[in-house]
Amino acid sequence: MTAAVDWERLREAARDAMSRAYAPYSGYPVGVAALVDDGRIVSGCNVENASYGLGLCAECGLVSELQNTGGGRLTHFTCVDGNGDTLVPCGRCRQLLYEFGGPDLLLETPAGILPLSEMLPQAFGPGHLTK
Ligand code: THU
Repeated sequence: MTAAVDWERLREAARDAMSRAYAPYSGYPVGVAALVDDGRIVSGCNVENASYGLGLCAECGLVSELQNTGGGRLTHFTCVDGNGDTLVPCGRCRQLLYEFGGPDLLLETPAGILPLSEMLPQAFGPGHLTK
């Protein structure tokens, strides 16, 4: 039997990251956290820019931390807004998550725990490039 995942711990990590967001332009801080298949937790916050279009979503920081701390596969993911409430990742970030978690990555959403395959159907991914 696989151990139950501590979603509350993951949410806390996301809220903690959110508290460090740099979002002076939108005023919309976001925090994310994910469990890695080796047990690590990685997280990220959004980092905006005076050149608005260059702002980085929180998920950018998360995948960067994942890669820079040893890589691995994302298995469970959560995203929170400035109130600490569960938020869906934007479309571009679903694609970022797909690269490192694939269709089975579990996402906490306002509609419950869903696999990424339901949040990003028929995803384009690394497999297409090797066909
Ligand atoms: N944002 C994220 O960081 N992740 C998402 O998945 C949704 C949107 C950020 C980008 C921008 O800094 C702010 O939320 C408002 O769009």
